[in-house]
Amino acid sequence: MIKNKQVGTKLKVPAIRKNKTTVYHPTEKNKILREQIALWRETPTFISKSSRGNGKQPELISFRILVPEITDTTYLTHALYYYPAKFIPQVVRYCLTEYSRENSWVVDPFAGSATVGLEAMLCRRNAILLDLNPLLNHIVPLKMTIKQAELNKFDLAHLLDALRQSTLRFYPDWSNLAYWYPPEILDVLSRYWGWQKQLPPSTYALIIEAALVKVSKQFSYAEHKAPKLFKSKTKLAEMETKLGEDWKAQLDETLYSTAFDICARVQQLAPLIAHCQNQVVAYGGVDSSDFHFTVEDELDCVITSPPYLQAQEYIRTAKLDLYWLGHSEEEIKRLGKLEIPYRKADQIIETPTINSIKARLARIDLSNLLDAYFCYTLRALENTMKKLRKGGRACVFVGNPKVDGIEVETWRIVSEYFLDRGFAFEHVFEDRIKNRQLFGGRKNKNPDGMKSEFLVVLSKQKN
Ligand SMILES: C[S@@+](CC[C@H](N)C(=O)[O-])C[C@H]1O[C@@H](n2cnc3c(N)ncnc32)[C@H](O)[C@@H]1O
Repeated sequence: MIKNKQVGTKLKVPAIRKNKTTVYHPTEKNKILREQIALWRETPTFISKSSRGNGKQPELISFRILVPEITDTTYLTHALYYYPAKFIPQVVRYCLTEYSRENSWVVDPFAGSATVGLEAMLCRRNAILLDLNPLLNHIVPLKMTIKQAELNKFDLAHLLDALRQSTLRFYPDWSNLAYWYPPEILDVLSRYWGWQKQLPPSTYALIIEAALVKVSKQFSYAEHKAPKLFKSKTKLAEMETKLGEDWKAQLDETLYSTAFDICARVQQLAPLIAHCQNQVVAYGGVDSSDFHFTVEDELDCVITSPPYLQAQEYIRTAKLDLYWLGHSEEEIKRLGKLEIPYRKADQIIETPTINSIKARLARIDLSNLLDAYFCYTLRALENTMKKLRKGGRACVFVGNPKVDGIEVETWRIVSEYFLDRGFAFEHVFEDRIKNRQLFGGRKNKNPDGMKSEFLVVLSKQKN
């Protein structure tokens, strides 16, 4: 069963696979170890083998190698919606199989595009997803939809043909709309959206919605491959050229091909989640540092990647999508103010590492940024981690960004904070950033100057 609290959808989900996902067969494990060792030899900065396994220092691994069954980070429905700084699914799969049991519950308080939700479903776990960004509520019903059996490409094509004849209208509640669209494109999009919005709920309606979101960004003045909403000179020039060509045919072609691609991916998912009785409960549009939820059964694991310190501005990035999806200017403004780390800290968190960084920081604004970041990030983690069962794990995936040239060892700060709150340190893994697609198609090899990301694993000592 998938429940989406904000939009109130309830979908019955047939099963996936019976057995726990097997990541390691004995021979496979040996192969992985050989590859890991080769990696060590190749990279002189890797920690020495003798310091491995004591858990106190990062162990250099590659989740892509550790989880070889996932060969494409966008497989199945993982990339239906554009979302910046997504988890690579290998990290999530690793945490699920290592640290949670079949049919248990996992929580992601910074769920973004619901990577944890889909992986949980595929591994037969239940998931609770929280995120400030209400886009989560639109992503979840499609990403994990179970009504694939009814789908066929011809019906979808008929619906799209009907949409093109639409005389209905929908205009987003946004005073600045004309800034982002040439009038002729806005006219067409408003008709297409008007038609989509009168469709009764169905998987087709969700597919068309997701395809329209993509097209509406691509045919706007907004740089659609960037993590922030802005007009770029290249995009302006691109749109000028488009307007001189048969832009309408291009728009329709993008709409049809995107919708068909989504449809095929949703159909591929069908046999994998057939008969699955697990649940994914999504709460989009909530502040995880101040949101109370209940877990129906034992909570085995928190698996999450908090926002970066030099924040991404997720709400602003998704603004165009959110307006077309029917969210109001007022709601988006309100949510933007709750985004980490833009709020002033109402409590100063101290740990040895935070204190030592702050002692070296000359700029007060950066010191305040650190306070705000750790105040709300740690509070959101604590809010979910307190619900873990005894022995349950928190798997937190973070970077080590720099502020004013000083490295902020986020994994260490998270550990220090929770060691004082009933958790034991279990492990920290270092994963070199390769092609993490932070910004859509653009491959950013070194976001925020970071070369690695870290997965810190803590275990709860008592209830
Ligand atoms: C690194 S992204 C998570 C991406 C996610 N792991 C995925 O695979 O798509 C961090 C998320 O934190 C969310 N966020 C920022 N401030 C928040 C808050 N106060 N409460 C809940 N979520 C917040 C952002 O909306 C963003 O989706």
